[in-house]
Amino acid sequence: MARTSALGGGTCWKLVSDPADVGDGASSRGHIMTNAVTKGVSSQTKTAIVTGAGRGIGEAIARAAASAGYVVGVLDRDIRGAATVAESIGGVALAAAINQEEEVALALDQFASATGAAAPDLVVNNAGIVRFGPLMTLSAQDWRETVDVNLTGTFLMARASAARMIAAGIAGSIVNITSINGVAPGPNAGAYGATKAAVVLLTQQMAIEFGPHGIRVNSVAPGLIDGGMSEPIYADEIVRAAREARVPLGRLGTVEDVARVVLFVGGSEAAYLTGENIVVDGGVVRSIISTLPRPDSVERRQPVEPVEAEST
Ligand SMILES: NC(=O)c1ccc[n+]([C@@H]2O[C@H](COP(=O)([O-])OP(=O)(O)OC[C@H]3O[C@@H](n4cnc5c(N)ncnc54)[C@H](O)[C@@H]3O)[C@@H](O)[C@H]2O)c1
Repeated sequence: MARTSALGGGTCWKLVSDPADVGDGASSRGHIMTNAVTKGVSSQTKTAIVTGAGRGIGEAIARAAASAGYVVGVLDRDIRGAATVAESIGGVALAAAINQEEEVALALDQFASATGAAAPDLVVNNAGIVRFGPLMTLSAQDWRETVDVNLTGTFLMARASAARMIAAGIAGSIVNITSINGVAPGPNAGAYGATKAAVVLLTQQMAIEFGPHGIRVNSVAPGLIDGGMSEPIYADEIVRAAREARVPLGRLGTVEDVARVVLFVGGSEAAYLTGENIVVDGGVVRSIISTLPRPDSVERRQPVEPVEAEST
């Protein structure tokens, strides 16, 4: 049932569907909650949609984009997370699952009608999931879900956004969030890493296909990030310290570290950058060879003195 309530700040809160209809944060079946910009945005105002922005890295990107002057579409399949973040940054909450093509189309339509902008200037495909497990025992369902959200969802959202940019004559920018797991394999992350590597290639392909329309497509690969889906890992102080010690910059990354790079890559300062995967990891992926044991650093057992055989 539709209902509205004022939230102040010159914005109008419009809840098209009751969150109770949506369930536990799974796919929202296209219901849209809009913290609508009352009269639309001026043609000078930049607009951005960030997927998976209801928490974690996506939330940080949405906040950074709002601070940089974008009117932000906070898209998430978790309608409550999207609404909370959108409310706090004066953005537009969009409830959709990126792996559902019709929900993606509806969310883009809703953003256009809320802002008056036919297509966003910037789209950040951040939503992603991880299903840990060795390949030998990973279920086919976990594999398919990972591919469906991380790869197919990114493809659907990027393609639909680019189509609208092209139709509106907007030389927009798309940033796909990958991972260092898409650059180098990691334990129990076979499905996840394969999807992220695929998104790196998809990004390059889109850069070539969309470039003639003035649309740039890049990806950003976060490393060991203290937030989002990694929160449970770094709640363990021992694991945290052990990992920090392996990072050349001596610390874990923050969600804001990632957000700042995304805003740079996605914005006009990077106008000639396309098809690149920018790794934001404090140097950890590049450090592997320097951490290999060397002849002068391996621990050796003390040479054993030859024992003379006792004569009998
Ligand atoms: N946190 C890290 O350590 C880390 C490291 C490298 C890469 N990444 C990548 O960064 C991105 C964000 O990760 P995070 O750590 O913030 O994750 P997170 O789990 O904290 O947040 C992900 C958000 O995406 C939403 N989401 C999931 N599936 C969706 C779907 N189908 N449609 C719409 N929304 C969906 C979730 O509801 C959630 O709000 C992901 O692509 C992840 O792979 C994270």
